[in-house]
Amino acid sequence: MPDVILETPRLRLRRWRPGDLDLWLAHLNTPEVRAYLGGVQSPEKVAQTLAATAREWDEQGFSFLAVELREDASFLGTSGIARIDTACAPEALRGAVQIGWQLRADRWGQGYATEAADAVLAMAFERFALPIVYAQTSERNGPSWRVMQRLGMERLADLDYDDPDYPAEDNPTMVWALGRDRWQHAREGA
Ligand SMILES: CC(C)(COP(=O)(O)OP(=O)(O)OC[C@H]1O[C@@H](n2cnc3c(N)ncnc32)[C@H](O)[C@@H]1OP(=O)(O)O)[C@@H](O)C(=O)NCCC(=O)NCCS
Repeated sequence: MPDVILETPRLRLRRWRPGDLDLWLAHLNTPEVRAYLGGVQSPEKVAQTLAATAREWDEQGFSFLAVELREDASFLGTSGIARIDTACAPEALRGAVQIGWQLRADRWGQGYATEAADAVLAMAFERFALPIVYAQTSERNGPSWRVMQRLGMERLADLDYDDPDYPAEDNPTMVWALGRDRWQHAREGA
């Protein structure tokens, strides 16, 4: 399939297709998934975000992708890389590339986010030759920073910052990163 960008033992990461908006609204725009992401959004806002994300692959060369299970092609969520465009982020982060993930809640706890992100990191470092990939979350979002830990990312506390788009309990934004050399080294040692 030409729109498939990455494959892992269990997963397929592909570009967005018509029909994905309904899947995103049903499975990712839920109180559980958005508990640390500022809550459920209006369908219009989700549609806007997804349309912008879908254009990014052509415009920026990479983007967040749809994640589906190879076994039955069911939609699991999204993972990918994107440029950080948060105006209040520290200078070092603005325009740099971050990795992220969101999975539907009924598929948590099976290693899918880490498996998808592992493939995204390999793409970021090998295909796009990025020197460093950042990740951002909040202290409260343990499931997300545990993915960062499993990926071998390092905590960069001096880059943490307050983001008024998120509620007080999800501030400050905590910053993690993985450099290509460290990633390569860990791979060779594995
Ligand atoms: C963040 C998020 C993607 C993490 O999902 P997750 O299912 O916990 O993460 P993984 O897919 O890597 O799974 C890891 C868990 O699966 C377990 N697991 C089971 N089978 C596994 C396997 N074959 N391989 C690896 N881990 C496996 C691990 O032990 C781990 O559980 P633990 O955290 O209780 O130790 C998910 O919580 C989510 O979508 N949250 C809402 C959106 C969000 O906040 N995104 C982050 C924005 S910053």
